[in-house]
Amino acid sequence: MIDYKDPKYTSTERANALLSLMTNEEKVGQMMPLAYKFMTREEALEWAKKGLGSYLHVLGDNADELQRTAINETRLGIPIIFGIDCIHGHALNEYATVFPTQLTMAQSFDREAMRKCGRVSATEVRCDSLHWTFSPVFCIGRDTRWGRINETFGEDPYLIGELGAAIVDGYQNNFVDNSCIMACAKHYIAYGESVGGRDAYDSMVSERMIRETFLPPFQKAAKAGCKTYMTGYQSVDGVPMNSNRRLLREVLKEEVGVDGFVITDWANVRSLIENQKVCDNFEDASRVSIDAGNDMIMQTEEFYDATLKLIENGQVDMKHIDDSVFRILKAKFDMGLFEHPFDKPDRSKICCDEHVAVDLEVTRESMTLLKNDGVLPINTKKIRKIAVIGPNADDLEAQYGDWSCGAANGHRKPATSMLKGIKKRAKKVGIEVIYKKGCDIEKPGKRGFDAAIKAAKESDLIIAVMGDYIELNGEYKSRATLDLPGEQTALLMELKKTKKPIVLVMVNGKPLCINWEAENMNAILETFNSGMVGGTAAAEILFGDVNPSGKLPISFPRTAGQVPVHYNYLPGWHGGKYKDIEEGPLYPFGFGLSYTTFEYSDLSVSKTEFTEADGEIIVTAKIKNTGKVKGTEIAQMYIHDVVGTVMRPVLELKGFERVDLDAGEEKTVSFTLPIEELKVVEQNLEKALEKGDFEIMVGGSSVDLPLMTTIKAV
Ligand code: GLC
Repeated sequence: MIDYKDPKYTSTERANALLSLMTNEEKVGQMMPLAYKFMTREEALEWAKKGLGSYLHVLGDNADELQRTAINETRLGIPIIFGIDCIHGHALNEYATVFPTQLTMAQSFDREAMRKCGRVSATEVRCDSLHWTFSPVFCIGRDTRWGRINETFGEDPYLIGELGAAIVDGYQNNFVDNSCIMACAKHYIAYGESVGGRDAYDSMVSERMIRETFLPPFQKAAKAGCKTYMTGYQSVDGVPMNSNRRLLREVLKEEVGVDGFVITDWANVRSLIENQKVCDNFEDASRVSIDAGNDMIMQTEEFYDATLKLIENGQVDMKHIDDSVFRILKAKFDMGLFEHPFDKPDRSKICCDEHVAVDLEVTRESMTLLKNDGVLPINTKKIRKIAVIGPNADDLEAQYGDWSCGAANGHRKPATSMLKGIKKRAKKVGIEVIYKKGCDIEKPGKRGFDAAIKAAKESDLIIAVMGDYIELNGEYKSRATLDLPGEQTALLMELKKTKKPIVLVMVNGKPLCINWEAENMNAILETFNSGMVGGTAAAEILFGDVNPSGKLPISFPRTAGQVPVHYNYLPGWHGGKYKDIEEGPLYPFGFGLSYTTFEYSDLSVSKTEFTEADGEIIVTAKIKNTGKVKGTEIAQMYIHDVVGTVMRPVLELKGFERVDLDAGEEKTVSFTLPIEELKVVEQNLEKALEKGDFEIMVGGSSVDLPLMTTIKAV
């Protein structure tokens, strides 16, 4: 028998050796993370003595105290792993670096920026004795009524997989040192497809559609070595994910294969009884959850006694229990927790200048110019007084978005609201800024209109900062309408009457149906939830210091009734139009303006006829900056499988690259298209490369693809 404490053995050998020594109580203790905030300190210490293997949302000294207890006061001294929702920065520390939300950062289409964000967040989380984040979200966000759209990378499986895998790599960084944390790919699977956009209901998707559309992002997570996966709240085709053996154990763990473990979402075992009603007691719910493939059971204390009873009565397969505990122990060995349970980076890393610089870099790339009649960049010779108006101009909580808890209220030096950023930049050129809130986000009332209109009349330019807020985004917060809430549009209509130019800056957690605004504003800058330095980045764009490069990762519907309106739909033939609205989205996937213009030419492919053995096709094109200022273009490569044995999406993103170009400069951009990305999930659920034509297109958005050629699978 090897000594599991000896680091010369592999994590697999050590985990197996340790597992063989464990009692049933010690095994079950490893399988059930509990949230510290719902326990007294004494209860938490008691659980640590009983061998609880993981806690949620506890950091710093409290975490270290539990760790000392686990190591020094239990028979085997198995270290605890501490987890947190660090979704776009270290949410539980108000002095940490808060990045834009995933949906916001997705506008950057920047893999390297995502990796850097992961590195910064992981380092700061480890400073607080935490080892694991429940992030990134790999859900597809295309029903914009859903409350958690802000947590996704948008509507496209390819973009989600690429950016998510990059953040996973940034978080984990091969566990080379004490700045690395375990990532968690969530929420498995098709959580965002809950019927009607309602949170945690039933997702009516077939296994074929799961395999074709929703599984690929998780496959990229697994390929990136993601250590953990989270089972979603909802059900698929009437089977709760938590008891969905087919999709969880057979598809994810056995077919895709994950080197790590699966954790349920919050109290999912309890939900089987209380909400989804597929079990009527904790023993039954625990048994089906283990059998389905869940290795860790989040926040269900009853799981402990229920599972010990199941084991005693031989009602649960001990092979599953042992496999779960093996996976958890192996992850702890892989992270080096047995050797360095208290190891952490220096606290000076938290929100250090280097980290803030990374945040600012990705934030500058994470804003999309949706409209501009020439009013931007601001002409600082003509414009000498600016009226900043709107409920989100000076609201950090709205700007930070979901999962940033107290951070928004932390009084930290780098935090910059839209108003603060605009004021600071305007001051550099002697422009006066006046600010009036004008109205609330949702509360009715126009008492602030007069002061806002007066300020507007006295100014040369209005910057209106509108949108939504935390009460309309997140869990339990789906919306049946998607208009600008409250009196905001009414206020904009009054401001429009002043005949002053209006720049609308949007601060919102999801696409909103800004139809009137699209017609009547002089410019619109979409910033979603831009995080700690959003005001700085927005001001740099408004004043022309930064040329906007963001593109939309999600389509904007014209009305909630049009949802879903994602670009990669399956064709129909009764026109797909509604009689009472214009066709297509208000703003399409991949769209975004710049202060310059770009021209595409010379599309070429490495093969016009290919087989699976070719492995990949190289697609190249030329891009020229035909304007007067330097800029960055997010070049996009799409395919269209012309004929399939099952219907094919009208368009599929399969490549994107950021290209920096000086005025007049031309470069060649190259996309690598793996043949694997051209395969179809056929009716028998097998993936196959089907013979026939594939159209290859390159351009600046899903509706602007000037270059096209056809290649043929033979
Ligand atoms: C929440 C969320 C999940 C999060 C978990 C732990 O309810 O659904 O995304 O990671 O609980 O906080």
